[in-house]
Amino acid sequence: MKNKVITVGCDHAAYELKQKVIAHLRERGIEVIDVGTDSTASCDYPNFAHAVCKNVQDGVTELGILICGTGIGMSMAANKHRGIRAAACSDTFSARLTRMHNDANVLCFGERVVGMGLACDLVDSFIDAEFEGGKHQRRVDMITEIEKNEMNG
Ligand code: RB5
Repeated sequence: MKNKVITVGCDHAAYELKQKVIAHLRERGIEVIDVGTDSTASCDYPNFAHAVCKNVQDGVTELGILICGTGIGMSMAANKHRGIRAAACSDTFSARLTRMHNDANVLCFGERVVGMGLACDLVDSFIDAEFEGGKHQRRVDMITEIEKNEMNG
């Protein structure tokens, strides 16, 4: 990642894991903007997906992390935002390659799917990888073109 600041959000199903991931990021010297949720009280994950995506869209942070029960609802909500390429990952190879090839800017995963050790490894794999550009840029541009044509309503 280019700058050492990242936006992190979760729902109630992932509050505990979010706190651990934030501690891990801070231990690495990365500044965290935590958009909540702030407890295990039931809440709606799209609100937090939106808050993280706004920060990425506005350039407040280059990257975001979203955690829910599975990571899937968060990724679905995030990918409805223009310019957001969110990837739900539960293995480190995918977390690394989605930065390198897809220029993913939001990583999603689930507290009910991954443990704390793997979650931290997913985060490290994602933020330490760099987009490779070249032929991958052309393909990312094609995604952006689809987005332009399909999300104009
Ligand atoms: C909440 O129960 C759960 O549905 C949510 O955290 C997430 O897994 C949705 O995709």
